[in-house]
Amino acid sequence: MARLVVVSNRVPVPKARGTAAGGLAVALKDLLTPGAMWFGWSGRLTANPSPQPAIVEARGVTYATVDLTPDAYRGFYVGFANGALWPLLHFRLGLMHFRREDYEGYLSVNQSFAASLAPMLQGDDTVWAHDYHLIPFARLLRKQGFGGRLGFFLHVPFVPPSMIEAMPVARELVADLCAYDLVGFQTEEHARDFRDCAQRMLGATVEGEWIRLAGRRVRAFADPIGIDAQAFAQDAARAEGDKEVLRVAESLSSRALAIGVDRLDYSKGLPHRFEAFGRLIEKHPEHKRRIHFLQICPRSREEVDEYRKLRTELDRLAGRINGRFSEFDWTPLRYSTRGAPRSTLAGLYRLGRIGVVTPLRDGMNLVAKEFVAAQSDEDPGVLVLSQFAGAAQDLTEALIVNPFDPDAIADAMHVALTMPLSERQERHAVLKEKVLRTTAEAYCRRFIDALEAPAVARAA
Ligand code: G6P
Repeated sequence: MARLVVVSNRVPVPKARGTAAGGLAVALKDLLTPGAMWFGWSGRLTANPSPQPAIVEARGVTYATVDLTPDAYRGFYVGFANGALWPLLHFRLGLMHFRREDYEGYLSVNQSFAASLAPMLQGDDTVWAHDYHLIPFARLLRKQGFGGRLGFFLHVPFVPPSMIEAMPVARELVADLCAYDLVGFQTEEHARDFRDCAQRMLGATVEGEWIRLAGRRVRAFADPIGIDAQAFAQDAARAEGDKEVLRVAESLSSRALAIGVDRLDYSKGLPHRFEAFGRLIEKHPEHKRRIHFLQICPRSREEVDEYRKLRTELDRLAGRINGRFSEFDWTPLRYSTRGAPRSTLAGLYRLGRIGVVTPLRDGMNLVAKEFVAAQSDEDPGVLVLSQFAGAAQDLTEALIVNPFDPDAIADAMHVALTMPLSERQERHAVLKEKVLRTTAEAYCRRFIDALEAPAVARAA
């Protein structure tokens, strides 16, 4: 196997005192064998960044990172990636703020990433780039003379041609994705939408999963991401003894816990969810005083206006719901904008009688899978899941809802709260088997095998 070089905007550089690894780091851990490299942004902003990456070695893996200038960060990350691409790819054209200078900034950060990485590459390395920050990266790395295989995985959804066309640089983006040798998506629907875009917008020929364009072939396929469910289940069982989890368990005093955990992001459907919880109490007053809804939503991307607006809206909504429904000794909604360690979250999921995962759009949504993995087999909680999360393709034994319909979410929560134990167990057994089978390791293996397959040769 060729040496693997992972490229992503955020790099989980191991710290001296072990930090919690994010979803991607967990997913890739089996691939990051000694010799591998991970390249990207350091998370730091400096006035005059060196093009030479800072290097940290850990367990034989090289973590190479570069700083960004505040200006580059504004154009690349705040402006184009999260102010224009993120809303577009989550079907929110009304929130897309396109500015030509942001796109220029996006291109120039991709260009400087390519220029910093190129001198560290060997010809037969396999480069795997991740997510919407790096769409033009393959083309720019090729320009630096790199001739090895280049794969890309999009963690977020992809949109159909009729929607991407609203983006003024849509053709450039689709063409740039075609400069990779392999492009992976969370679901078959997104892979198909991308192939349709290539066909309609660039005049490419599509044969099955293959796109033929300008004398090259690119494969666009679905490779749904998973979790290490076995390890997560063990963490959850262990976390029953975690101090914070114990405090939460005690505070419930035998009331049911409904739990939601999401970055504070407008794609997650949080206002609809809060409203749904209010409806639940209104429509089914028997649950009054019998349930707590804990919503944990760590603040995210606060430099982007839409995120600040959402936070203000949620603060207001949470206050309104508690103001309206609280009893003097019962506060129905607990809402926190701080994060928690993965192990604590695992323990909290395990306490959950309902996991509420209702994004308006989501590439996959690993919280849904983690909630399932964390449940005990004897007394499992019920997953309420949006039909627009990639996870809903597989996790069909969850209570699937339309996240735009607060009444539907409220009804599903009621069904979950009143579901007989035997039905909870049956649904859980199937879901658990699915999350155990569709592992992070299998996701990585499928991608790398596809990227290294002889059919993925650069020339047609
Ligand atoms: C999503 C994206 C990731 C991103 C993460 C956190 O999961 O798909 O690429 O890293 O959100 O967002 P942030 O902007 O803080 O990196």
